[in-house]
Amino acid sequence: MTTPGAPVTPGSRLARLLGSRGILTDPLWHRAIIAVDRTAFVPDTLYGSDPAHPGWECPVPRTDPRWDAWVQEDYALATQVDDGHPQGEHGRGRLVTSSLSQPSLVVAMLQALDAREGHRVLEIGTGAGYNTALLCHALSDRAVVSVEIDRDLAKTAIGNLARAGYAPTVLDDDGISDPFAGVAMGRFHRLLATVAARGRVPYSWVRQLYPGGVLVTPWEVGNTPGVLLRLEVEEGHAAHGRIIGDASFMVLRSHRSDRRSAMEVVNEESPGAVDATTSVNPRLVAYRNQGWQLVLGHLVPELRYAVYEAAEDRPECAGEASVYVATPQDGSWALGEYVPAGGPYRVKREGARDLWAAVGAAWEVWERAGRPGRDRLGVTVDERGTHLWADGPEGVLQLDGDGRSGRRAPAGTG
Ligand SMILES: C[S@@+](CC[C@H](N)C(=O)[O-])C[C@H]1O[C@@H](n2cnc3c(N)ncnc32)[C@H](O)[C@@H]1O
Repeated sequence: MTTPGAPVTPGSRLARLLGSRGILTDPLWHRAIIAVDRTAFVPDTLYGSDPAHPGWECPVPRTDPRWDAWVQEDYALATQVDDGHPQGEHGRGRLVTSSLSQPSLVVAMLQALDAREGHRVLEIGTGAGYNTALLCHALSDRAVVSVEIDRDLAKTAIGNLARAGYAPTVLDDDGISDPFAGVAMGRFHRLLATVAARGRVPYSWVRQLYPGGVLVTPWEVGNTPGVLLRLEVEEGHAAHGRIIGDASFMVLRSHRSDRRSAMEVVNEESPGAVDATTSVNPRLVAYRNQGWQLVLGHLVPELRYAVYEAAEDRPECAGEASVYVATPQDGSWALGEYVPAGGPYRVKREGARDLWAAVGAAWEVWERAGRPGRDRLGVTVDERGTHLWADGPEGVLQLDGDGRSGRRAPAGTG
């Protein structure tokens, strides 16, 4: 119980909110949330969408009533756009590039990290420094090293932390360089990324940890919202672990993908487009199962898709759909015409990759593994890359080198 008569502080209010929702359960982090005032880390300008400027993130100053409303809630707060150089007029930006993470997610990640007294923790993505302050409160300044790629943000974070009474090591550096430039930081017991790895989890993070160390990071592939990984480093430098939740985050700067949608790549009038057929059911690409979408995103990286249902006023086309797939980075695209009568389906395609063949091969891998949902999936990170598996590291889900569905082989044992 909090002491009767103790003043209500921003930290105690947040702790109450997260405790009452069943999110904040660990006393170590409960004490930290009470002690550190998140509002002290919020800059004077936040960013949000505005119907008057679709596609833009617009500045929301402290004087705007939304600023205060957002800060009081369990919301992520956008604090920087376009790496600090807004592309639009009046400070408007295209891409949120730093934020104060959503408090419930911050707590879920810290609790998953299971850091204890005596542990050294490496944080990737300092942002405004709030999460760093929580780590310092729980473990001590000396135990915490935080890395932020943006020099101005790193400077602001150091100031915020100092005003809050904390002095961890904050480096302005690329958190996936190996080793971090000029700093012999040694190894850590825990690594917490508060920025998402897209596609591959950096192996440098595994190397940065002691055997038995724990790595918690958001991870995203394909079209899926991010998931949270908790990996443990084994002797021999591979890390294995499960998907433990959802975690939508901005991605590491060097992991940003070509953001064009499928329809921005497709050109049905192109003279290079060829007609073909496929036995792969085009609707599978959009099959709504998180396990499938993760497998598809991992095995056919950066695949985008769009599904257009036949018009309602054409009953003769009932159930039909035009399904487009594309990989923007190499310009490959394909249209598959789904009909309820079944395959083979008409295809138009262009580019280096036969995307329907790739989707079909990924589907075969998923099916052969018994159509695992997210709870059966896990990840191994070793020097060869990031491997997705079902039911255990020996059940790696992979395609053959030529893009066909491959046999399941053990993930690297280091
Ligand atoms: C979601 S924000 C951090 C949230 C913050 N830890 C908090 O307490 O709310 C992610 C941060 O990661 C930083 N970042 C992106 N790529 C990075 C990289 N390669 N190395 C270090 N920081 C990176 C971004 O500049 C951004 O400030």
